[in-house]
Amino acid sequence: MWRDFVYVIVGGGVAAGYAALEFTKKGVSHGQLCIISDEAVAPYERPALSKGFLFPEAPARLPGFHTCVGANEEKLTPNWYTEHGIELILGTRVVSADTRLKTLLTATGDTITYKYLIIATGARALKLDEIGINGSNAENVCYLRDLADATKLVNMMRMCTGGTAIVIGGGYIGMECAASLVMNKIKVTMVFPGSYCMGRLFSPKIARYYEDFYKSKGVNFIKGTSLSSLVINLDGKVTGAKLQDGRYVHADMVVVGIGARPNTSLFEGQLTFENGGIQVNSQMQSSKTSVYAVGDIASFPVKLFGNTRRLEHVDAARKTAKHAVCAIMEPKTTSDFDYMPFFYSRVFSLSWQFYGDNVGEVVHFGDFSGTKFGAYWVNDNRLVGCFLEGGGNEDYVAIADAIRLKPVVLDLGELERKGVDFVLAV
Ligand code: FDA
Repeated sequence: MWRDFVYVIVGGGVAAGYAALEFTKKGVSHGQLCIISDEAVAPYERPALSKGFLFPEAPARLPGFHTCVGANEEKLTPNWYTEHGIELILGTRVVSADTRLKTLLTATGDTITYKYLIIATGARALKLDEIGINGSNAENVCYLRDLADATKLVNMMRMCTGGTAIVIGGGYIGMECAASLVMNKIKVTMVFPGSYCMGRLFSPKIARYYEDFYKSKGVNFIKGTSLSSLVINLDGKVTGAKLQDGRYVHADMVVVGIGARPNTSLFEGQLTFENGGIQVNSQMQSSKTSVYAVGDIASFPVKLFGNTRRLEHVDAARKTAKHAVCAIMEPKTTSDFDYMPFFYSRVFSLSWQFYGDNVGEVVHFGDFSGTKFGAYWVNDNRLVGCFLEGGGNEDYVAIADAIRLKPVVLDLGELERKGVDFVLAV
């Protein structure tokens, strides 16, 4: 069957939901827009999957976290799409795309045509077999990217209450999952090759705080080594892991958080790529003028730092999506995208936010034995980044505003002494 639309979004995650809302604000007509997603549910706030969704008590469940609740906007339940004349083609994978003919072919054999295409296919979790380790599909090995993964993880945690888990990977998925496992009364061992957790963002001092906090909750860290193989019994269940340093760790379940890969294969050879993603200009437009790319797969110019980045962060997904829609619907009045990189996480009772860039000299501030502390990054005598744990809304707004201005800093000691007061005074 052929279906013709003016606007098509391929991928039905965070960016798709925020784009849909923006389309309605700009006055899209009924029947003009469709979203094709291989997930069976309408777009939702993906970060909820590693937070509220995993709580043992009163867990978050759909429709509670459909987009765009995460930005205090309307909640786009399936009904909302119907009411706005937006077609949701769910549980349907796009298997090929032709950007010259402006067509998409779905796994169900339908051909969908568009005038404008927004690519919002996000990323997928890297699997163990892709790094040469067997056992990816064992029933007690969990990943976390989509609702199906999260549901499997919840079921597995219920079955393993009182037991043990290995978390492979020390990034934010590993850290957030480890916290949830503990909350679900599972004893956790975290294994990762770096010398400290969240190595791409944290300084060693920040990492030490979180690791100590996790240790106080019973989490065991094995650092500086990685998984060598999984030990699998005759029922196909993993019973433990052998590590490259020769150690063996018993486990009733395994959670793998070893990174993500952008879902870009549909467009390879058709569009220009950069940083492993689809290169777009500051209107989110790819090398083909009718094709826009947003969210995790978009490599876009970050004016503030004068380079191009691909950011796998929810805030970037929301804002790139919104910007692409503005650029499509109001090309003459849409200014260049001017993004401030922002990332956050919440674990246990802790909550941090990061703004800007973590390059240059790091200056820590605040009380690392208390609940509020952070770090600034100063590059070429300019304040370029800030991390804050335990801040209030006013602090975070001040940080974002200050980093945007990149104020000159000649005395690093002043940053250390003043802490958040420094940005509050900028
Ligand atoms: P997203 O992954 O949301 O959506 C892509 C959609 O496209 C999916 O529905 C996918 O199935 C679909 N798709 C892909 N290929 C397709 C095809 N060929 N045909 C049809 N559909 C296809 N960020 C942050 O800043 N703070 C946080 O705390 C967290 N927490 C967090 C937790 C967890 C568990 C994850 C997995 C991720 C986060 N993130 C995060 C990252 C954040 O969620 C992520 O950056 C956004 O979801 C990206 O939005 P996109 O719309 O680009 O991709």
